[in-house]
Amino acid sequence: MPDTSTLRLPADDAGIARAADLLRAGELVAFPTETVYGLGADARIDAAVAAIYEAKGRPSFNPLIVHVPSIEHAKQLVHWSGTAENIAQALWPGPLTLVLPLREDAGIADRVTAGLSTLAVRLPAAPLARRLLTEFGGPLAGPSANRSGLISPTTADHVLGTLDGRISAVLDGGPCPVGVESTILGLAGRPTLLRPGGISAEQLSEALGHPVMRRQEREAISAPGQTASHYAPRARLRLNAADWREGEARLGFGDIDCDLNLSVAGDLDEAASNLFAHLHTLDAEGAEVIAVAPIPHVGAGVAINDRLSRAAAPR
Ligand code: TXA
Ligand code: MG
Repeated sequence: MPDTSTLRLPADDAGIARAADLLRAGELVAFPTETVYGLGADARIDAAVAAIYEAKGRPSFNPLIVHVPSIEHAKQLVHWSGTAENIAQALWPGPLTLVLPLREDAGIADRVTAGLSTLAVRLPAAPLARRLLTEFGGPLAGPSANRSGLISPTTADHVLGTLDGRISAVLDGGPCPVGVESTILGLAGRPTLLRPGGISAEQLSEALGHPVMRRQEREAISAPGQTASHYAPRARLRLNAADWREGEARLGFGDIDCDLNLSVAGDLDEAASNLFAHLHTLDAEGAEVIAVAPIPHVGAGVAINDRLSRAAAPR
């Protein structure tokens, strides 16, 4: 029988070198960023990008984020702007993705953008991701490293939970500190917040010098992956639970009695960093219903509530 299991690579020079070699050969390698684990493939190799969609079971109309080793590299892929420069100087590297017009000479495989004329680019902050990108030296397509529609992965074990045997390797850098995906800022027209994430709207507005415009839910979906149901655990979710009911698993916030707590101290950043891991844990324990305490809708709470409402949406 062929060995189809996925390699777990250590977070050292040898592991990074091996990961970069595999990527150059057109293979799929999951890697940790500060937000969640990404499923990396050379964004210039059409077959490698096709393999991402295949491994994730991702619809082909949902475009991918491209990770770059530097701002200079981003400028070779997209038409840069003064606003992009200001934002990148203020908030890169970090959990922020910028959507900009794709350059004709970018050399990116067509299916990365799913036919759009824009490209989502991101310069991650996690030291291991940066070392891998520098060693690889090219643009790395990287959606979250999970089967499409399921809970995003914040550990190598989460990655292997849904992708073992479907990808060549995972670079194991331990848990991701931010814990929710990057904020996506559209800069192809008026600056627009397309997905709340690791950088808050307040931080974006400060860097822009004016309040950032939020995408209207009723508007045509401009971040095509932002469909209602997403991040779905097996269990059903009951949100803003003011009380606990018999038989439910209780996911708390703040100093309350519960099964797992996102942050006893009521710290929203800590809660974001625990969110997916706690959902994975309660799901694995076989909970039928997970009741979630109310999460304040400020700062990182906006991204947390976004993920929770998608996880709770009808499938
Ligand atoms: O933190 C993150 O962003 C993680 C790590 C691995 O970097 N990546 C991630 O990728 O969350 P993914 O594929 O799970 O989510 C990417 C989102 C999707 O909703 C997709 O529709 C949107 O970005 N997107 C990609 N290209 C776009 C574009 N050109 N215009 C608008 N939205 C785009
Ligand atoms: Mg995802």
